[in-house]
Amino acid sequence: MSLLTDSVATATRSIQDKYPTPIDCAIILGSGLSDLSLDGYQSQCLIEYKDLNGLPIATAPSHKGVINIVSNGNKTIALCAGRHHLYEGYSAQQVTTLSYVLSQVGCKELIITNAAGALNPKFLPGDVMIITDHINHTGHNPVLGQDDTFGVMFPDMSKAYAPDRAKQAWDAANAQGVRCHQGIYIGVLGPSLETSAERRMMRSFGADAVGMSTVLECIAANHSGMQVLGLSAITNLALGNEDQQPDTIEEVLENAAIAGQGMKKILNEILS
Ligand code: HPA
Repeated sequence: MSLLTDSVATATRSIQDKYPTPIDCAIILGSGLSDLSLDGYQSQCLIEYKDLNGLPIATAPSHKGVINIVSNGNKTIALCAGRHHLYEGYSAQQVTTLSYVLSQVGCKELIITNAAGALNPKFLPGDVMIITDHINHTGHNPVLGQDDTFGVMFPDMSKAYAPDRAKQAWDAANAQGVRCHQGIYIGVLGPSLETSAERRMMRSFGADAVGMSTVLECIAANHSGMQVLGLSAITNLALGNEDQQPDTIEEVLENAAIAGQGMKKILNEILS
């Protein structure tokens, strides 16, 4: 057994010991969404990441490290507050251990949320972007070196973000009056922010928003048979023009909380 399959099996067993029923869907809550509650869903079980053997510790600020399993009687959703990033020093497989565990407890859908800088000049901090596709600019891949335990060696990524689900999210955003866009997310290693030259390069690649998460989780989800919906909280202007302002974590967290309100409306509409 590889380290990944071992860690995933151990963490899966720890969840199933506490909550044996299959879980339908999971949401990875990024910055600004860690307190998400869903209308009509009641909490069934709270599990701290630190009690899941096999799962790395989540060290990033504002990432709580707890799974709240909620149900509305029809559908069960794992709300996962906290994720693992490459910039914490974790490997691609450590970053995606949680995603693989979620696939093993039955999840058919992974909803990934994140905070991202705006490369597209039409976007404003506090807006939401529905991810239609991504560019993996991290240089890492969780499938590297795996056997076929979780899926095939060359996972198809041609529809990495389920188009039907993205359309539902778009309709929900419009119905709820949420300032929302659709676009391409580019994932970078971090933790230093991009230089202005790098941001202009990413715009020329066709990317609309940049962040330090999501792409590896999306690969793991597609690899292990989960469909993906991705939502970005636009937190700062990252155009890399001459008037580019310095980025601050305070600005990012403040705007993540604003966009989080919009994401909450979208999620409540599509998960009710
Ligand atoms: N760059 C990378 N990651 C981010 C940004 C950014 O501008 N904003 C929020 N996360």
